[in-house]
Amino acid sequence: MRGVAFWFFATAAIYVAIGMVWGIVMSATMDHSLSPAHGHLNLIGWVTMGLFGLYYHNVPEAAETQLAKIHFLVATLGLVLIIPGIVMALRQAGDSLAKAGSALTLISMLIFVFIVFRNRGKPA
Ligand code: HEM
Repeated sequence: MRGVAFWFFATAAIYVAIGMVWGIVMSATMDHSLSPAHGHLNLIGWVTMGLFGLYYHNVPEAAETQLAKIHFLVATLGLVLIIPGIVMALRQAGDSLAKAGSALTLISMLIFVFIVFRNRGKPA
């Protein structure tokens, strides 16, 4: 695995390692108040971004485009904003960051939809 595929998958593995530590801390402290943020870190960071990595590994032609790099940057920025954004929203400290992160996360998925269709039929 290399290029965008590697970076999606490698960072996804880091996100889930952080998410698991977060889950263990929640269990140990019996404070589950931030569990939606933990859930989103694992499901967007690990599951969604890990799937992006596997897709780009299977469709190398899609991974070699400039748009794939932009996709990685938008998805990463979205995650980096949405997780603290959810924490802030849960703590009643404003929801602007969560909104910005949500918008970027959606844009990253729309970029991915476009990439999937543009590369249909390309060999694995
Ligand atoms: C060491 C691994 C993990 C630990 C110790 C852990 C721990 C926890 C704890 C304590 C909660 C709160 C439960 C509650 O309040 O009822 C939770 C919620 C959740 N976790 Fe994890 N977790 C782990 C890994 C994962 C992974 C790998 C995923 C997804 C891929 C995940 C997804 C979720 C989701 C979706 C929720 C519910 C979020 C919500 O309440 O909105 N967790 N987890």
